[in-house]
Amino acid sequence: MPTRTPPLYEEVASLRREIERHNRLYYGCDAPEITDAEYDALFRRLQALEAAHPELRTPDSPTERVGAVPAERFRAVRHTLPMLSLANAMAEEDVREFEERIRRILELAHGADVGYVAEPKLDGLAVELVYERGRLVVGSTRGDGTTGEDVTVNLKTIASVPHRLERASVRAPEVPERLEVRGEVILTLAGFQRLNAERTERGEPVFANPRNAAAGSLRQLDPAITAGRPLELFCHSAGAIEGARFTTHWDFLASLAQWGLPTNPLNRRCPDLATALRQYAALVATRDTLPYEIDGMVLKVDELRLQEILGQVSRAPRWAIAYKFKAQQAETRVLEIVASVGRLGTLTPVAELEPVVVGGVTVRNASLHNMDEIARKDVRKGDTVVIERAGDVIPYVVRIVREKRVGRPRKFRMPERCPVPGCGGHVVREEGEAAYRCVNAACPAQLKSRIRHFASRGAMDIDGLGEKLVDQLVAQGLVHDFADLYRIETATFAGLERMAEKSATNLSTAITASKRPDLDRFLYALGIRHVGEHLARVLAERFRDIRAVLAADEAALLETQGIGPEVARSVRAFADDPKNRALVARLLEAGLEPQAPVPATGALAGRTFVLTGGLASLTRGEAESRILRAGGRVSGSVGKNTSYVVAGADPGAKLARARKLDIPVLDEAAFLELLGTA
Ligand code: IVH
Repeated sequence: MPTRTPPLYEEVASLRREIERHNRLYYGCDAPEITDAEYDALFRRLQALEAAHPELRTPDSPTERVGAVPAERFRAVRHTLPMLSLANAMAEEDVREFEERIRRILELAHGADVGYVAEPKLDGLAVELVYERGRLVVGSTRGDGTTGEDVTVNLKTIASVPHRLERASVRAPEVPERLEVRGEVILTLAGFQRLNAERTERGEPVFANPRNAAAGSLRQLDPAITAGRPLELFCHSAGAIEGARFTTHWDFLASLAQWGLPTNPLNRRCPDLATALRQYAALVATRDTLPYEIDGMVLKVDELRLQEILGQVSRAPRWAIAYKFKAQQAETRVLEIVASVGRLGTLTPVAELEPVVVGGVTVRNASLHNMDEIARKDVRKGDTVVIERAGDVIPYVVRIVREKRVGRPRKFRMPERCPVPGCGGHVVREEGEAAYRCVNAACPAQLKSRIRHFASRGAMDIDGLGEKLVDQLVAQGLVHDFADLYRIETATFAGLERMAEKSATNLSTAITASKRPDLDRFLYALGIRHVGEHLARVLAERFRDIRAVLAADEAALLETQGIGPEVARSVRAFADDPKNRALVARLLEAGLEPQAPVPATGALAGRTFVLTGGLASLTRGEAESRILRAGGRVSGSVGKNTSYVVAGADPGAKLARARKLDIPVLDEAAFLELLGTA
């Protein structure tokens, strides 16, 4: 039977329904089902139909609005000026058309250039911050563009969000009476990977991309959860402003920086389109080296007077465009679907792929996350799939290419027995959980990853205990649990493959040196379900002793701010398991002495630090936690109460401000020295 082409209005109505649904999934639930590119395609098709048939246009079409209505659990905040969206350019040609339109409207003479500011398009969550007389009074999400959600307390937990604006120098413009500034909250790629790994271990649905993870992290009813996530803010545009005037967007950005607001270091002023296009090429080239995701370049007419003349059409300004990067996608074939076993015994399905180059990197595996994801995407062995790579995130399967399926391949089934050589333990799926687990606690794969976690930098920080070595220690039966590490002689290490005398000695020294860990690191190292670095700190501060943590009943745990029922249950379950109690006892017997945190009386007590620029030896999160552990405080902006500004590579305006206020500036070496004595 020939397929009937749906009448136009039917197609338009169905496109609107689809787009509305995806809007809800994207903005309301932070869980999109399609990629941005697929969404853009639907949206453009609807726009094209409406443009060709104006009689089909309606005021409630999604093309007339931005996003979905705000979730109900947060207080609604009305934006003084609507938060607009951006029109997209997919190719250079679209950007040239964008400039042509501008030239026509402005009636520019041939040869006269339009000046631009080119900024990376940050793939995060748009927010608006309102400062009154320099004080942060409210912060909200974009919501539907008109009304957003009040996330002030959550935004305040982000280190780079200043609670107060202060001029960096006498030459800086006065802080305005009222400043509404917009920006993007993003999650670093490393933070995204860590978060998803933790969620996979817990059998929770994973975030599809860093943007959703950032949104999910910011829209938390419990700000303690937001505080534990490595979020950052970059300001990029203005709302209503009282008490300051600018002539160009570039000046506006410069003023923001001088008031202590973070702006992106890759923003560039471009005198003409040719320069802007070169900047696009430069961004494409650096994209993969950035610690966060960008998905294009935003090109903005620099002169505000011209912006005003250009105005806006329905949902987007005519003076700006988002020149999107080509998605780093490729098609390939699934050779096999296998289960890989993680630290807590979780079996994660992984697609082994016919090797394919995506964005210059050869990809051989893609995560399928869990059985629900496989079922939703219906991925089977032999299928042709579209995979996507974002920055250095593990690639994932976007969808299958159904037309290319050959025959009726069998669905993937989780093995009933653990596939790890030497294990064969039972695989179970616990009630209400998406994850399958190998229940054999002695499973070599689990043991190996638990030991790697125990020795990792955020945990016991045992240098030299790498993957290959752990493999040997487990394979040769030298280590059955963490406590065994403290019993191995240097000579035994020296006898292992690829271990020189010197590295064996260094390793023994590192193991001995780890015997006085901070209590929070020790708790984190134990690998208790749900207890990440942040919650380990919370537990350590509240209970101050490992025995007290293990003895705490659920009620006592629940009284602790930041600990919810799930975490409380998990800590209890860990403590109630005789095997775990024996393990902790053996570690203490081996001479481990976890150290209680030293809050107000620590060596850095009473001192406030502001960090600017990148450090070579520590991440921002590590630096902050070292300061906090020594009793110090970390602030996002430089003020009279700042004790030290720590300046790494590429410091921002905070450094200038510190110099101006005569606040001591520490370089990385001086900072490490201070921490060393703390
Ligand atoms: S300017 C009217 N600049 O992209 C212009 N937006 O698709 C308003 N975005 O909602 C935004 N990076 O959340 C601007 N450098 C940048 C941006 C940026 C990311 C987001 C922003 C906006 C969305 C529009």
